[in-house]
Amino acid sequence: MLRPQVKLRSSANLMKPSKNKDLSVGEISERSGVAVSALHFYETKGLIKSTRNNANHRRYNRSVLRKISVIKAAQRAGITLNDITEQLSVISNGDKVTSEDWEKLSTAWKKDLDDRIERLTLLRDTLSYCIGCGCLSEKYCEMINPSDRLGNKGAGAQLLEPKIADKFNKEEMPRIMRENNLKL
Ligand code: FES
Repeated sequence: MLRPQVKLRSSANLMKPSKNKDLSVGEISERSGVAVSALHFYETKGLIKSTRNNANHRRYNRSVLRKISVIKAAQRAGITLNDITEQLSVISNGDKVTSEDWEKLSTAWKKDLDDRIERLTLLRDTLSYCIGCGCLSEKYCEMINPSDRLGNKGAGAQLLEPKIADKFNKEEMPRIMRENNLKL
């Protein structure tokens, strides 16, 4: 009679690495979800550090996982790797990112994020209208930016600059709407 073969995994396979055990680059990659090549890149940028064991293999302290998560979170938020490298370089305790470090980093990045959110919101809301770039090719350009008057304020798409757009929307838009019989 055929019996189902039950393969029991050895207890060694089920054991989790001890909390203090240094990890190989493969283990770090598996746990962090970051490719080995990216980990090597982080290392060449000085973002993370490893030591070498007797067999000359790279070993990483488990605390590097937290640092990698912080790097990933920052990258996801659109912060450049150069800025991340610069800001992480002030962490005093090597690869260990403490709660206080995280607090400082997130406060520094918050302003950058707020600014980015403001610009992206503006971009989302303005993209289908005149953005004041000097092209004068959109339907509303001649009303909003007659004869490219916005070019006097500086180079680039002026209405994608939050401060300029805000002032423009408050001070000039009501008149433009009135004069052109436009309604929101
Ligand atoms: S969209 Fe370019 S000037 Fe209006």
